[in-house]
Amino acid sequence: MLSTKLPQHVKIVEVGPRDGLQNEATPISADDKINLIEKLADAGVNYIESGSFVSPKWVPQMGTSTEVFEKVNRIEGVTYAALTPNLRGFEAAVAVNADEVAIFGAASQSFSQKNINCSIEESLERFAPIMEAAKKANIKVRGYVSCVLGCPYEGDIEPEQVALVAEKLLAMGCYEISLGDTVGVGNPASVTKMIQAVSARVPVEKLAVHFHDTYGQALTNIYAALQLGVSVVDSAIAGLGGCPYAKGASGNVATEDVVYMLNGLGITTGIDLTKLLQAGWFISDKLGKAPISKVSNTYLSQEE
Ligand code: HMG
Ligand code: MG
Repeated sequence: MLSTKLPQHVKIVEVGPRDGLQNEATPISADDKINLIEKLADAGVNYIESGSFVSPKWVPQMGTSTEVFEKVNRIEGVTYAALTPNLRGFEAAVAVNADEVAIFGAASQSFSQKNINCSIEESLERFAPIMEAAKKANIKVRGYVSCVLGCPYEGDIEPEQVALVAEKLLAMGCYEISLGDTVGVGNPASVTKMIQAVSARVPVEKLAVHFHDTYGQALTNIYAALQLGVSVVDSAIAGLGGCPYAKGASGNVATEDVVYMLNGLGITTGIDLTKLLQAGWFISDKLGKAPISKVSNTYLSQEE
C-alpha cells in the first residue's frame, strides 16, 4: 500500500556547494570546495550545483566559483551546474564549462527585490537573454522559484502566484522547475496545496522540490511531494545553508537524511550513504561544526 504512489527512483540535486556554502561566514577555499564536490561525485551524486556566478559583493563565498569549475576533476555522467542571475553570469559559467545553469526567480516581489535587486517581471526580462544564449550553446537551464510557501518579507504566498511564475519559467525554456521553500515554513498540507496548483500548469514530471528545514518539516514535506508524483529533490550535504536574503531561514534539508529516508522506502538514488556521510563530515570539519543531519550524528556515534 505504502509505496504504490511513490517513485521508484529519485534524482537528488545536490546544492550544498552552492546553496549550502553561500550563507556560511567562514570562508571555504576553492580547494576545499573542490574536494567536497569530488567526494560527493565519488559517493554517486550525479548532479552537483557547484557554484554561482553572482556579484561577489552580494555573496562573497561564491567568489571562488571560477576556480572551482576550472580545477574540479570531473567524472563522466555527473552534471556540474551553476547558478546564473544574468547574461554576464551565464557567460562566466560557460567560460569554465559548467554543464548546466540555473536561473532563479521568486514568487514574492519583495524577495525578488532583496535577492536580485529587481521585480519578478524584470527578472524574467533579465533571464530572456540567458535562455537565448543557452539555446544557441545547447546548455540546459533549470529554473528556481523561491518563496513558494512563504516569504520573509510578505508572509503567505498564494499557490496560484507560484504556479504563474513556474509556468513562465517553463514557457521560457527551463527543462525543470525547482520549487523552493526558501524560509522553510511549509508543512505537508501547504506543500500539497501548492504542488496541486502548480501541477495544473506545469507537468509534475518537470517539478523538483527544494526544502529548508527551519521548522523541522522538510522530510515530511518531501514525502508529501513524492506522493504527488514529484521525483526530483534538492538537498544539501550536512544540511548546510540558508539564504543570505531570508534571515532566520535554516539550512537545506540534509542529503544524508533524504537518502536514508529514500533507502528505507526502497527508492533508489544511486548514492552510497557511507561515502555521503564522510563527505558531510569533511565539509563540516572545515566549517568547525557538526553536520545538521541526524543521520550523520548517529553515524559518528557508531564510529566511536
Ligand atoms: P544589481 O545591483 O541589480 O546589478 O545586482 P548590476 O548589474 O547593477 O551590478 C551590480 C554589481 O554586481 C556591479 O559591480 C556588477 O559589475 C556586478 P560593481 O559595479 O558594484 O562593482 N555584477 C556581477 N558580478 C559578478 N557576476 C555577475 C554580475 N552581475 C553584476 N553575474 C545581481 C544584480 C543579480 C548581480 C545581484 O543582485 C546579485 O548578485 N545577487 C546575488 C543573489 C544570490 O546569489 N542570492 C542567493 C541565491 S538564491 C537562493 O539561494 C534561493 C534558491 O536556493 C532557492 C530557494 O532556496 O528557495 C535558489
Ligand atoms: Mg535554497
